Amino acid sequence: MKNFELYVPTKLVFGEGEIKKLEELVPKDKKVLMLYGGGSIKKNGVYEQVTAALKNHTVVEFGGIEANPEYQTLLKALEVIKNENIEFMLAVGGGSVIDGTKFLSSAALYEGDTPWDILANRIRTYVGLPFGTVLTLPATGSEMNSGSVISRKETKEKLGMGGPGLFPQFSICDPTVIRTLPQRQIANGVADAYTHVMEQYLTYPADAFLQDRISEGILQTLIEIAPKVLADPNDYVAAANFMWSCTMALNGYIQKGVPTDWSVHMIAHELTAHYGIDHARTLAIILPSAYTKKFEQKKEKLAQYAEQVFNITEGSVEDKAKQAIEKTEAFFQSLGIKTRLSEYTDDYQGFGAKVAESLKAHGMIKLGEHRDITPEVAAEIVEMAY
Ligand code: NZQ
Ligand code: ZN
Repeated sequence: MKNFELYVPTKLVFGEGEIKKLEELVPKDKKVLMLYGGGSIKKNGVYEQVTAALKNHTVVEFGGIEANPEYQTLLKALEVIKNENIEFMLAVGGGSVIDGTKFLSSAALYEGDTPWDILANRIRTYVGLPFGTVLTLPATGSEMNSGSVISRKETKEKLGMGGPGLFPQFSICDPTVIRTLPQRQIANGVADAYTHVMEQYLTYPADAFLQDRISEGILQTLIEIAPKVLADPNDYVAAANFMWSCTMALNGYIQKGVPTDWSVHMIAHELTAHYGIDHARTLAIILPSAYTKKFEQKKEKLAQYAEQVFNITEGSVEDKAKQAIEKTEAFFQSLGIKTRLSEYTDDYQGFGAKVAESLKAHGMIKLGEHRDITPEVAAEIVEMAY
């Protein structure tokens, strides 16, 4: 196991009916900006619960943060923060609203002229404007980590940012919010969280037994609850296990002391930037080809995954590893997620080369746990996923 430091300062408040605790969690002496998305919170009772809990606070609202939060929209929110002298933010939404709020947390205190530089120049944020979150979509883990991904349509870019100043102060996770999620978003949540675990687990054996067992446990839990939450989002037990699995998949714990990959995400972000395909679906397209391409480097861990998660005990390391990739792709498909780029667009010829160009332009030239996925290798992975 490698040496590590663990710093996860977010207070997580989990369970049905907990949104009312905003009254104590949000500071009363600060002017608050409440941020939300396209309006789902106004249809499912979350907005009413939040505003009721904040009736004694001074609150300004900013709605309309879109899925894959858009830089131009966030610049408008930044104006509100400056004009209204906002001192605290509350994100009410899924990963996109929370990530948008993280960007604003950084941008509000950024002294440069162009906040896009925080993303383009990979500037880490050590101090941000404080914020909390009310999660409405289990998927990204953004409610308990310090990362954010922002999109910019005009340049077809989708870039990440982060830093220790960007942890939410608190996050309220009420599993009943999934009752109004469309099936597509539930499936996305499962696939995204599943891939988060894979990016941190599926590398090579690193003598980190506990991290492996926790990762395998999250994967098994996601496989167990997926058909249940899809069939009945009112099933509280399934919803609670779904939500906690998504948080645990990317709150920092399973990545400590182990090598991590993240190439699937970095390549997949290009598919959202160019085609607007949902984040989770881009992962399901790229992961099987990435693991096939890196089979030699990953086969030992793939075989372990086959044994521990799918109970495949017969055959050679190679046999088990191959079956593990097939099982993973079949799992994504069982969620109703298509795993080939050509199933989403006809306009895919030459896209591998475009991905290579874009990765190069953003300095992502050595991806993967061995830092051996060059833009050229990434292009091959994309082509294998057509
Ligand atoms: O905008 P509204 O009207 O709220 O509708 C949203 C949106 O259309 C809807 N929704 C959310 N909660 C709902 C609901 N509909 C009904 N009932 C509810 N309770 O769902 C749609 C998708 O929301 P979004 O926030 O975009 O989804 P998700 O949570 O999957 O976030 C995706 C974004 O997070 C980034 C992705 O790249 C993408 O931009 N990621 C962030 C990460 C992080 N910060 O750690 C890691 C991830 O790998 C990922 O990259
Ligand atoms: Zn993800």
